[in-house]
Amino acid sequence: MKVIIDSKGNKHYWDGGDLHTSFGVIKEKYIRNGVVKSHLGKEFIVFDGGFVDKINKIKRGPAIMLPKDIGLILSYTGINSKSKVVDAGSGCGVLAGFLGNISKKVTSYEKNKDFFNLAKKNLEFLGIKVKLKNKDIYEGIDENDLDLITLDLNEPWKVLKHAKKSLKSGGFLVCYLPNINQVDLLVKEAMGFYVEKVLENIEREWIVDDIRLRPKNLILGHTGFLVFLRNI
Ligand SMILES: C[S@@+](CC[C@H](N)C(=O)[O-])C[C@H]1O[C@@H](n2cnc3c(N)ncnc32)[C@H](O)[C@@H]1O
Repeated sequence: MKVIIDSKGNKHYWDGGDLHTSFGVIKEKYIRNGVVKSHLGKEFIVFDGGFVDKINKIKRGPAIMLPKDIGLILSYTGINSKSKVVDAGSGCGVLAGFLGNISKKVTSYEKNKDFFNLAKKNLEFLGIKVKLKNKDIYEGIDENDLDLITLDLNEPWKVLKHAKKSLKSGGFLVCYLPNINQVDLLVKEAMGFYVEKVLENIEREWIVDDIRLRPKNLILGHTGFLVFLRNI
């Protein structure tokens, strides 16, 4: 896949064939890395796409976790190519895909059959190996000796007793929750865990071009809180 960017910064993800845009058509035979022109003489930048570009092309269903929040999970837990991870619910498979991209083994639980199939399709498209289970994680976790469990679902306190058994000592349970009353309830229930941190990440992107050096006008005000618990 190639990424083709027009003069307004719009990205086109190209897999073959002539590309039709509002700035004109680029014939397939002219598409190569570098700067190319459409039949209207408009310039486009072309380069090879990778994992983060493919993420933008996946099929959408339930709300996905965003890179600004996923980045905190990867960095604050320090997971790596030796890590064993369980994730739930899979949803579109975005968080599971990022986890699978860097860790040894990821198993992701999804109770809804349609979303299980969606995550399967998306992870195949991304080329990331994740073991998917069409299963309710509130009923239990089959895996043991885990370095990390990630929960992007409504009632993570229902997983605490299973997580306690499945995580290594020092292993992380990271819960992503939109509401602070959910965070409060989780932390009050989290006996046997050390509450390492509760975070919210507000990302502010800047415009940096020939004439403008300032933050973008619109920012995403809130996505969710991240609660980092450690198994004692
Ligand atoms: C917001 S989505 C997760 C999105 C995912 N983190 C991503 O980045 O694509 C929440 C998912 O959790 C699933 N879910 C909710 N409760 C669950 C449970 N007890 N066990 C397994 N999956 C569950 C829902 O069906 C839904 O697909």
